[in-house]
Amino acid sequence: MTGTNRGGEVSIRDLSKSFTLGGRKLAVLRTLNLDVRSGECLVIVGASGSGKTTLLRILAGLEAADSGGVAIDGKPVHGVGAERAVIFQEPRLLPWLTVLGNVAFGLEVRGVAKADADERARFYIALVGLAEFADAWPSQLSGGMAQRVGIARALTVQPEILLLDEPLGALDAMTKIGMQEELARIWSEENVTMVMVTHDLEEAIYLADRVLILPKEKGGAARLIDVDLPRPRDRSESRFVRYREELLREFGLH
Ligand SMILES: Nc1ncnc2c1ncn2[C@@H]1O[C@H](COP(=O)(O)OP(=O)(O)OP(=O)(O)O)[C@@H](O)[C@H]1O
Ligand SMILES: [Mg+2]
Repeated sequence: MTGTNRGGEVSIRDLSKSFTLGGRKLAVLRTLNLDVRSGECLVIVGASGSGKTTLLRILAGLEAADSGGVAIDGKPVHGVGAERAVIFQEPRLLPWLTVLGNVAFGLEVRGVAKADADERARFYIALVGLAEFADAWPSQLSGGMAQRVGIARALTVQPEILLLDEPLGALDAMTKIGMQEELARIWSEENVTMVMVTHDLEEAIYLADRVLILPKEKGGAARLIDVDLPRPRDRSESRFVRYREELLREFGLH
């Protein structure tokens, strides 16, 4: 069940998006060009309001671009698609279904027979370390556990591309580090393309092949930083620390 995903290449071409706020036009994304490789982990950072969620929503097909666009494996994106799964900051589990029910749900609505759906769901529940909680109710889970259910639910439909908007943002520092390690492991085992938004620079360096920095000033250009470090990554290693300093400088904080 693992390691069989190919594809999941994303190309973003001359992508622009603005919103109208109080009668004024606000340019959020300006002619962004970027290719995300199949199986790559791209992490998006940027100041609050720089357009991270907007970009992710356009990739998910939940929001339309004003001009330019996104193609996945050469096919233009129009709306949501089965090759993409989205993980939000809050997992939004269905309270009337167990962990197993929540994870299997996406397969069942796609017409997969219940026994098959349950079997696949159990595989991913085990992958996120919750095998013993398959029959628990969402209200019985901690925040980190609920988020892991959300991740299992997204993986169960075997997307080529996983889109994550601050998936660990609501977790405490210790749980967060454990979940970052888990995400890194799942990403490499599932061979999935990951595009993730975070405001945690250390998390960005821990996970990313490349970090995309969205400009704060609307006239500014987006920047890409290659994180050329072996995995699993060591947060205390000097090169890791240097990347962190480089990102802090980008934000004018160092
Ligand atoms: N539906 C909308 N209507 C009007 N303006 C919007 C809409 N969605 C986003 N915006 C505006 O677009 C800009 C970018 O918003 P976005 O949510 O993409 O930022 P972000 O980088 O995700 O910020 P944060 O780090 O706070 O989550 C903001 O100025 C916001 O006010
Ligand atoms: Mg956001």
